[in-house]
Amino acid sequence: MIELAPSILSADFARLAEQVRAAAEGGASVIHVDIMDGHFVPNLTIGPPVVKSLRKATDLPLDCHLMIENPDQFIPDFAEAGADWISVHQEASRHLNRTLNLIRSHDVLAGVVINPATPVETLTEVLDIVDYVLVMSVNPGFGAQKFIPGALHKMRRLAEYRANHGLNYRIEVDGGVALDTVGDVVRAGAEILVAGNAVFGHGDPKSNAQKLLKAATEATLQKV
Ligand code: DX5
Ligand code: ZN
Repeated sequence: MIELAPSILSADFARLAEQVRAAAEGGASVIHVDIMDGHFVPNLTIGPPVVKSLRKATDLPLDCHLMIENPDQFIPDFAEAGADWISVHQEASRHLNRTLNLIRSHDVLAGVVINPATPVETLTEVLDIVDYVLVMSVNPGFGAQKFIPGALHKMRRLAEYRANHGLNYRIEVDGGVALDTVGDVVRAGAEILVAGNAVFGHGDPKSNAQKLLKAATEATLQKV
């Protein structure tokens, strides 16, 4: 099943509740929350207090994408604030198995993320303990960047590996997902589609979400 996870990074932070509601009316079923620390990525965003407020503003699952160093230090705080899903970067976690188990110990879905330059093969030892794998299709840090097509073969490999090994993780894609790329990512195997600029960057988030989901569903039908 395809799900749209709008990233609030491109939303109006002074009107988050309203913008999230509009995206939900357009069919979004997960809210993607980008957490940046100014160290792992060259940008700063938000922390647990904003997640706590968002928790009151929507019933949709909050998908917290941690682009931070020392994720173990903050995982309990995000879980406590109301995160339903937490993902950590392979590149930011020295003891990935421990970090993923820490997320799971809080009864939160655990995800692992890879940057564009990181191969899928770096994840083989943890794929049996993750609920989802997030493939970055831009270098993390900013919204509205150009989609990197090299991400597509990673989604295909993750789908193949899952089938060959009887695993259950879901495949998420993040970065540059818009009307011109959504078909390719869905055909490559992505099931959870993060989109920031394409939902909140211009126009009406509700109709933007509807259009993206429609294009994604049409691409599903073309999958062989
Ligand atoms: C980038 C973030 C993304 C970002 C995607 O570091 O992880 O979630 O918001 O934005 P778009 O969809 O605009 O590329
Ligand atoms: Zn993200």
